[in-house]
Amino acid sequence: MKIFLDTAIYEEVQQGVEWGVVDGVTTNPTLIAKAGHDHEEQVKRICGIVGNVSAEVVSERKDDMLVEGRRLASWHENVIVKVPMTPDGIAAGKALGRDGIRVNVTLCFSVNQALLAAAIGAYIVSPFAGRLDDINEDGMRLVADIVSAYRQQEIKTKVLAASIRSPVHVTQAALAGADIATMPFAVLKQLFNHPLTEAGQKRFLEDYRKTQEAKPVAGRSEAAAAKR
Ligand code: E4P
Repeated sequence: MKIFLDTAIYEEVQQGVEWGVVDGVTTNPTLIAKAGHDHEEQVKRICGIVGNVSAEVVSERKDDMLVEGRRLASWHENVIVKVPMTPDGIAAGKALGRDGIRVNVTLCFSVNQALLAAAIGAYIVSPFAGRLDDINEDGMRLVADIVSAYRQQEIKTKVLAASIRSPVHVTQAALAGADIATMPFAVLKQLFNHPLTEAGQKRFLEDYRKTQEAKPVAGRSEAAAAKR
């Protein structure tokens, strides 16, 4: 399972890329607004350091989405155009795909919607697990069901577990067979954590320092021998 960052903050992407664990980024209008930068400038900057950067259309009608999606795709070859799971979004996604543009169908909340995304040959479908949990449904069950339906139907569209809220969601997404999980930077940082790793590393370093302190300092043993 590939790890994507769900952010439009350049510094977070840069850190994830430096760690060597991040393969892509998902942005959306909310995240772009939060980052507080010009959309085009920010997406291009992020595309400069990582592939697979989803940028979302904000038009509502198919023809407008098409113009917008083509413009987003022209910014950089790493851009994947995100279209909403609406009839217009799906129709625009189909046309963008015909242009050779990779499409991510976002706001997916059911297996049937995921089948529609697959029917237009979408590159990615994004089930929003956390938002289903928020309304007392099982978001990761949906991710697992889409993976299972796609396997049975030999569908190539990648399943991206989105709206991830905790490290447990990441484990569940991997076990459900998701191709990608996109997560906030705070969740990515939490993936490193385990108390036994911290305790073990502390102990190793302390023991190493003890061996350094016990080493005879150069010249000290000769001086001691001369005294004798
Ligand atoms: C990703 O593509 C989505 O935009 C994102 O995961 C939504 O997450 P949220 O439900 O926390 O806003």
